[in-house]
Amino acid sequence: MTNLLPALAACATYQPPQGKVDDALVRRVISAAEKSGTPEAARLLTVVASRSDLATDRRVEAIDALRVWAKPPQRNRVNGVWQFHSASRDPVVARAALEAALPELLGSRLDEPLRFAVLQAATELGITSIGSMLVNWCYDTTCSPASRAKALGSLLASKPAAAVEVSAKLRDDPQPAVRMAARRVRATHLPAEQVVPELEAAVCSADLAERQAAVSLLAEMDAPECVEAVKTLTAKLDSGSLDPTIHLEVREAAQKRLGREVAAAPASGSSEDMVAAWSDTLEGGDVARGRDLFFTKGEVSCVRCHHAEGKGGDVGPKLDGIAATKQRPYLLESIVAPNATVAEAYRTTVFLTDEGVNVAGILVSENADTVKLKLADGTVKDVKVASIDERTSGPSSMPADLVGKLTRRELRDLIAWMASLTKPPKP
Ligand code: HEC
Repeated sequence: MTNLLPALAACATYQPPQGKVDDALVRRVISAAEKSGTPEAARLLTVVASRSDLATDRRVEAIDALRVWAKPPQRNRVNGVWQFHSASRDPVVARAALEAALPELLGSRLDEPLRFAVLQAATELGITSIGSMLVNWCYDTTCSPASRAKALGSLLASKPAAAVEVSAKLRDDPQPAVRMAARRVRATHLPAEQVVPELEAAVCSADLAERQAAVSLLAEMDAPECVEAVKTLTAKLDSGSLDPTIHLEVREAAQKRLGREVAAAPASGSSEDMVAAWSDTLEGGDVARGRDLFFTKGEVSCVRCHHAEGKGGDVGPKLDGIAATKQRPYLLESIVAPNATVAEAYRTTVFLTDEGVNVAGILVSENADTVKLKLADGTVKDVKVASIDERTSGPSSMPADLVGKLTRRELRDLIAWMASLTKPPKP
């Protein structure tokens, strides 16, 4: 079987008479080349990576196979079956192949993921000529800010001195993501007395993420200048004059650098106490992350009960438009103290039946004969009026323990997202 691998790998150069090369074939070619491990196989991987007629994902995969050449994945790329590579393999083989292909690869217009894969592989394989290409990428404003920030990170890993030099210019870049990456480089490689004033200025940036990142960097650095800066911010927090979007970060910084006790948030209490204990989550969240939590975080499964932006359950109120009438403290209270204010039409009633069974739900309708109740799982249950011994009003069916399953940052992001829901639900 193994002796067929080189032949399969050689299909890297295959051009069908018409149409595109089958994607499944390309995957097999990559896998075969990876397994054979010869210099020729490494060269064939660069051929796959250079072919603009192949899917970007496959081209990235070929580069990735070179990057991990010395330690190929334990699972076969095509069928996921465990595979064992006995002899340890020399990364020099992959390095030589990639280095030879670099001018052609980077000379062509590469998609960003591919370009990044190439630079990452080259960095990890120790190709030193890549340094200047990374520098160019850091400055290249036609690339996305996120990729430029990543390029600076790679440069830092391979050539720290060059990264520090580049960071001097990039800290004034128009893109916040790039500035933040530059500051991280400086914070870890330059003396505190030089960097702290830069960070203090960034704490007042117009960009939210940048302000928060600057405070977090101050908290990470271990220098007397940082302690002073954190003291100043904490004093502002205490006097109520601090920008509310960085409360959470400054509190964390005070804990880390000044050893300040952070009172554990109460598990229950009056709604004022609860909202006060979580007040640093009211401002400064990230809308996109909050949306993602709402729709995907399984532990809290908000979307199982609430409908928003076109999907979700109907056990709880629709959240679209909620920000038009409700303020952030109300949204926070809904989560940390759900029983404080129960949304009209969602008050639960608990019925004790003559069989001694408790049924709790939201009253849907009632006539002389039957009461219709919507249960917490969304199903509707009929209860015979004649069988009801007692009725009491029950707690909110919004779970009270959600807050224990969310970090403060997550809660802050959720609030930010809900506070962005100003458009009413579509009828
Ligand atoms: C088991 C179902 C359930 C889950 C899970 C749930 N909720 Fe609720 N939620 C409700 C019900 C029922 C109400 C209405 C009763 C009330 O106001 O307490 C409600 C009320 C609310 C309100 C107030 C709405 C209004 O119009 O006043 C907000 C805001 C809210 N939930 C957000 C969330 C978020 C965010 C999550 C996820 C972290 C979540 N809920 C998870 C059932 C649920």
